[in-house]
Amino acid sequence: MTALARRTTRIASSPTMKVTAAVDRLRREGVQVWDFGAGEPDFPTPPAVSQAAHAAIDGDFTKYTPVGGTLELKRAIIARYKADYGVEYRENEVIACAGGKQALYNTALTLFDAGDEVITHAPGWPTLVEQVKLADAEPVVVRTRADDGFALTAQLFLDAITPRTKGIVLNSPCNPTGALMTEDALTALAKETSRRGIWLVIDLCYEQLIYDPSPHNLPAVIERHCKDLGVICGSASKAYAMTGWRSGWSLGPAAAIAAQHALQSHATSNVSSITQKATVEALTGSQEPVVQMLAEYRRRRDALHTWLTADARLTIVKPAGAFYLFADVSGVLAESGFVSSLAFADALLNEARVAVTPGEAFDAPGFIRLSYATSMDTLREGTARLLEFIARR
Ligand SMILES: Cc1ncc(COP(=O)(O)O)c(C=O)c1O
Repeated sequence: MTALARRTTRIASSPTMKVTAAVDRLRREGVQVWDFGAGEPDFPTPPAVSQAAHAAIDGDFTKYTPVGGTLELKRAIIARYKADYGVEYRENEVIACAGGKQALYNTALTLFDAGDEVITHAPGWPTLVEQVKLADAEPVVVRTRADDGFALTAQLFLDAITPRTKGIVLNSPCNPTGALMTEDALTALAKETSRRGIWLVIDLCYEQLIYDPSPHNLPAVIERHCKDLGVICGSASKAYAMTGWRSGWSLGPAAAIAAQHALQSHATSNVSSITQKATVEALTGSQEPVVQMLAEYRRRRDALHTWLTADARLTIVKPAGAFYLFADVSGVLAESGFVSSLAFADALLNEARVAVTPGEAFDAPGFIRLSYATSMDTLREGTARLLEFIARR
C-alpha cells in the first residue's frame, strides 16, 4: 500500500475515547459497567434548547448558513460574553465552530507553523498537544504538580518560553485536574506574552462549571492585556449538556478569526443550522439549567471526594471546576504490583466493571480520572466496587 501522510504517524487517536469504546463494547455484550469514564454531562439537553431545534426543523431552517455561523448566533455568543464577563467583541471577531474542539483546531492551524514551539500543560487534555502537532508545530509541555493543587502559575509558562515560542495554549478549568488559572496568574502571563508577541489561547470549555466563588474573569484579562494576541475558545457542550450537537466558538482579533473562517470554509463549512438555533436559545435563554446542573455536580463532587479519600492510599485534590476527580493512585500501584495506572484501570474494568480513564491519557501516569457526570447511584456503587478492588490487593 502507498504510505500514508507522515502527519498520521505523529498523532495518536484520542485515548479518552478508547475508554468510551471499551465501555460500549462491554455493554453490548450485556455486561453492567459502572462508568466514571464519560467526559460528558449525563443530564438531558435543556428542553427549551431542544424545542428551538424542533422549531428550526419545522421552519425548514435546514440549509447552508454563513460559514462562521448566522449573525443571530454570533450576536448571541457576543452577548453571553458581555453579560458574563463585561467584554466587548464585534461580529468579525467571532466564529461558530463544530464544538470547542474545532474552535481549538482552527486556532492551532491558523496560528502555528512548522518550527514554532507551542507551550501547553500536563496533566492536560490530550487533544491540545495533538492539535499543535497537526499544525506541524512542536508542543512543549510544562507540568503542574499535585502537591500545589495542579496550580497553573504564570512562572510555569514563562520559564518555558524560548525565541521559538509562538503560542501558549491553556485550559481552565482544567480537564482532568479541575484546577483554575487565577486572574492574577493570567494577568502576569498575558502582560509578558503581549510584550514578546506570543499568542495566548485559552480553552474555556468548562467555564460555566466552577464550584466556589472564585474570580475567574479570564476573558477580561485577555481584553485588557493582550486582545491583539489572545484567542478564547468556548463550547456549549459541557455547560448546556449539548455534547452531541457540536457547538463551540472562537473569539479573537479580526484577522485571526478571518483566517479561521477561510480554513473552516474548506473543511466543514457551517455548524449544522439546527444546532445553531439550539445554541442561540442556550446562550440567550434562561441560564437556570446551568445553575441546577452545577449544584448537582457540586453535590456529587463533594460526596465522591469524601468516599474516596476514606482510603488513605488515594490522594485527591478537590477540583475547583469541570466534573472530574483526578486521583493519585501511585500508593496503590506500589503496594499492589500494578506496573502502571493503565494496567490498574484495565484490571479495574475487567474485574470490578468500573471504568475510569488512566492518567496516561493525560500525560500523567500514576493517576486515574473519575468523571462524576453520572448519577449518584452509579457513583455510590462504583466507588464501593473501586474501594473493594483496592482493598483486595
Ligand atoms: C479541555 C477540553 N477542551 C475542549 C473540549 C471540547 O469539547 P467540545 O468539542 O465537545 O466542545 C473538551 C472535551 O472533552 C475538553 O475536555
